[in-house]
Amino acid sequence: MCGIVGYLGEKPAQPILIAGLKRLEYRGYDSAGIVSLSPRSKATLVRAKGKVSELVAKVSEAPKTDVIGIGHTRWATHGEPSKRNAHPHNVGDIYLVHNGIIENYQDLKAMLSRYDYEMKSDTDTEVLTALIDYLSHKHETLLEAVSGALNMVVGAYGIAVIDRKNPDEIIVARKGSPLILGLGKGEVFIASDASAIVGYTDQVIYLRDGEVAQCMRDGVELYDLEQNVVSQTVETLEIDLQAIQKQGHKHFLEKEIYEQPETVRATLGGRIDTEKHTAKLGGLNMTDAELRAVKHIFVVGCGTASYAGLLAKYYIEQLAPDVMVSVEVASELRYRSFTVPENSVALFVSQSGETADTLACLTEMKRRGVRCLGVVNAVGSTIAREVDGGVYLHVGAEISVASTKAFTSQVVAMVIFGIMLADSKGADKRVISEFVDELDSLPSQIEALLAEQAGEIAGIAKKYAKYEHALYIGRDALFPVALEGALKMKEISYIHAEGYPSGELKHGPIALIDDRFFEVCYIQDNWLYEKSQSNLIEMNARGAHAIAITDTTKKVPAENVIRVKTKLSYLTPLLFNIVTQLLAYNIAIARKTDVDQPRNLAKSVTVE
Ligand code: G6P
Repeated sequence: MCGIVGYLGEKPAQPILIAGLKRLEYRGYDSAGIVSLSPRSKATLVRAKGKVSELVAKVSEAPKTDVIGIGHTRWATHGEPSKRNAHPHNVGDIYLVHNGIIENYQDLKAMLSRYDYEMKSDTDTEVLTALIDYLSHKHETLLEAVSGALNMVVGAYGIAVIDRKNPDEIIVARKGSPLILGLGKGEVFIASDASAIVGYTDQVIYLRDGEVAQCMRDGVELYDLEQNVVSQTVETLEIDLQAIQKQGHKHFLEKEIYEQPETVRATLGGRIDTEKHTAKLGGLNMTDAELRAVKHIFVVGCGTASYAGLLAKYYIEQLAPDVMVSVEVASELRYRSFTVPENSVALFVSQSGETADTLACLTEMKRRGVRCLGVVNAVGSTIAREVDGGVYLHVGAEISVASTKAFTSQVVAMVIFGIMLADSKGADKRVISEFVDELDSLPSQIEALLAEQAGEIAGIAKKYAKYEHALYIGRDALFPVALEGALKMKEISYIHAEGYPSGELKHGPIALIDDRFFEVCYIQDNWLYEKSQSNLIEMNARGAHAIAITDTTKKVPAENVIRVKTKLSYLTPLLFNIVTQLLAYNIAIARKTDVDQPRNLAKSVTVE
């Protein structure tokens, strides 16, 4: 979603701000802007609707050498995407960029109108800018004005503010929307996402909720909203430049699909023991007895993360049969009345660790005293910090908006958790051993699939790019894979796609089948093979254009069959999922969509 950058130092700020905004493009946005201040307090504000390249064109008409500035990529919430609504916003001498939502902006706007403030945009952000301007006339310092304004605000924010009269200071603050400060020699970098700081410095401060930072060339001072100085912890950033470059791939999505053998290895690293057939997650902070006591698990997430949770449910319930798993879409759970069964733990699944709805559920579960565990990729993210323990995925930066490698590793991490649970409960050792062995060979199985079948899948994909609708069906653990496969297709190719349990076909979706549709049927050669095959035959009888994805060597009656050769069984659905990642990717290419930054979508959804 929206992105924030800032720079204060001795180098020209505009190129640094623009490079930072380019690195944040992957988060999804629809307009962009920067403002810089000259040593003589002249502000240069440039804003543009559309891509950062539009902004660059405008900046290059009259570039500046100013050494302080802030910038933003906006994903519209209040008001259409337009230059007028783009950030930075300016009122009086105050310039401000903002991620999040100010919920009481209408009340504040009404209050400010009594002091003759008139808004030029439709945004909640301009109201906050005006409020800071109003308070700046009542206070000595910008820090006081910003803190005063934030004490009047209801909502979520990450902000960076400058005052035209003082080109030596940037004030930033956060509540519910991440901000990172990068400390260089005589310079400070500000960003809502570490990728905009990588390569400049690896010394960073992750701002905590409720903190306000005064950034100056010689360092940073942190305060709470009552302007008391608070302590700061400088950490070393773990990602490097390679992680945010395409490295020869046409798109980040392709790179991330192909990284999966390595990323699964990284998630597994040191966590399974193939001799003893056990597993260990160091960061879980749970004893054997505590694991043994678990009877119920909430798995909470959004989008792909929730589908990873649904697939993990099938695996955990197989591994530890006395445990019940409830998979919850965070945006629903947060407003629903629900009870917490005894001996529950909650898993929060999130690539970014910043998803607003998932975070809200975490706060609620903590309030209810539930042990909260994270299944998170972004190190140092809010969810990772707030949970009682958990597991990092270690898949590196995932840049493409549509999630691929994170999904696979989220499932892998939760299977490892399932193995630990099962082990602590003395569950069936044979099942545990088989899962450990399958996890161990998963990376090489993915490697073989990518090496041997990517070309074939690309060839088949081309034939289906003309369709406008798709139906994905699967049974058992292949049902969540059908949901995820359909999600990937709609996200990046804009083909309308729906995922269904195969057994539901006759309860509605079979009525849809006609020549505008193609169907993706996942069929595993197991105890459900015959039933899945019948579903395919039923669809064929209605004129289906089906692609079957299967591991069987038997004859399958489909227009196209993708046979995955594998020795896996439990984890075969993860391989089938990679087939549909490739299918969606190749269809999106044929349809010439913006694969890495699909329209209207954001990588990290930090507002409701
Ligand atoms: C957005 C992204 C999805 C992601 C979902 C949850 O919708 O586009 O790819 O699955 O958010 O994000 P999280 O960071 O919590 O996994």
